[in-house]
Amino acid sequence: MKKIIIKGNKVLSGTINIAGAKNSAVALIPAAILSDEFTSIYNVPNISDKNALINILKELNCQVLEDNNILTINSSKLKNTLIKEELSSKLRASYYFMGALLGKCKHVEICLPGGCNIGARPIDYHLKGFKQLGATIKIEDNKYIIDAKVLKGANIYLDFPSVGATINLMLASIKATGKTIIYNAAKEPEIVNIATFLNNMGAKITGAGTSEITIEGVDYLHKAIVEVIPDRIEAATYIMAGALMGDNLKINGVIKEHMESLLSKLTEMGIEYNIKDFELTISKNDNMKPVSIKSQVFPGFVTDMGQPMSVLLTQCNGVSFFEETIYDNRMGHVKYLNNMGADIKVKENTEIICGKTNLHGCKVIATDLRAGAAMVLAGLVASGTTEISQIEHILRGYENIIEKLNNVGADVKLVEE
Ligand code: EPZ
Repeated sequence: MKKIIIKGNKVLSGTINIAGAKNSAVALIPAAILSDEFTSIYNVPNISDKNALINILKELNCQVLEDNNILTINSSKLKNTLIKEELSSKLRASYYFMGALLGKCKHVEICLPGGCNIGARPIDYHLKGFKQLGATIKIEDNKYIIDAKVLKGANIYLDFPSVGATINLMLASIKATGKTIIYNAAKEPEIVNIATFLNNMGAKITGAGTSEITIEGVDYLHKAIVEVIPDRIEAATYIMAGALMGDNLKINGVIKEHMESLLSKLTEMGIEYNIKDFELTISKNDNMKPVSIKSQVFPGFVTDMGQPMSVLLTQCNGVSFFEETIYDNRMGHVKYLNNMGADIKVKENTEIICGKTNLHGCKVIATDLRAGAAMVLAGLVASGTTEISQIEHILRGYENIIEKLNNVGADVKLVEE
């Protein structure tokens, strides 16, 4: 069993380089199979979710070459076989093979996806959209069988701007006959990254990044390259580390337009930062003001930043509120922050965080990926030693987190028992 041990209260200074975005990379890798030639994806983060997707590609008889952070995928000899549970359940994003295989082969057999336990995570919008494109869906035990004689463009309205459904429907409709319009589409920067990749292959997608995306079906998708955008959630996590413990900590790889909701909250809290080109510099602030935050779809405050943000709010002078509106069970971090000395009450889906509280190290659990990030931040600011278990969640989404933190002055160890 792996654990992270943090000796807290160390000043952080130097530069942290941000990796490619997990939530883009995990869709770009399945999207690559739509090309009938080969594709290269640059700036792929070295996280365990990437390895899980590569294992699925290999099962589908795709050739995969890894060279540092570049993945080259050749799917010209793809064999469309069942994606077994031992592969699909490793991560949520295995469900992008539904859209990609349906788009390419008009037939998919895949077991249930996995992912963080942060509440009910249905995929009904994905399935409803596939049906509107002409597919039939059978669910046998733990397996989806999705099949289409032909895929025909359709007008698809999403009841909620779901990131996963928007991407899956772009993938499924890319080779359909005629035009597909996705109304109420998700607008997250990751969607634009995927659409760019598909367009580089010869797809005809317009409107990505807005709530109406149009896809004109094409017959053939050729070779292409794409670069994964910087990970705005990883950047946010280290920016918060800087607000807690930084002395001119530099975060390199920040696209300001992707992070306005966080940056404006930092300003409201009285935290100063400088941003020049793609580098943000931030220092510890001992006098942070409390704020109210509500998670929303992009460009609102992203739900994935909520749990790490709770740690920052424990250090504000006064009562802050964080309302989680996207998931119904994203509060796994609260119990452990309270064990470390925080004063957080949960009322329905809102955290009421009374600050400022001194945090002290103890044994905690990373109940999911971003709860794990919250535990790391808490460990950095706490006095004494914090021991985090179930860190597989953290390694799914944060590249070289131990090295990145130690390089800027933290005292973090990964131990294996
Ligand atoms: C993506 O999840 C991210 N995951 C999540 O990142 C992120 O929290 C989420 O988008 C919101 O930004 C990946 O990209 C792999 P959704 P996704 O479909 O696509 C409901 C992280 O920490 N819904 O936008 O699964 C759903 O239950 C993670 O990196 C349906 O009801 O999210 C949720 O309440 C965790 N039916 C809301 O919509 C559906 O068919 C948003 O989900 C689909 C979604």
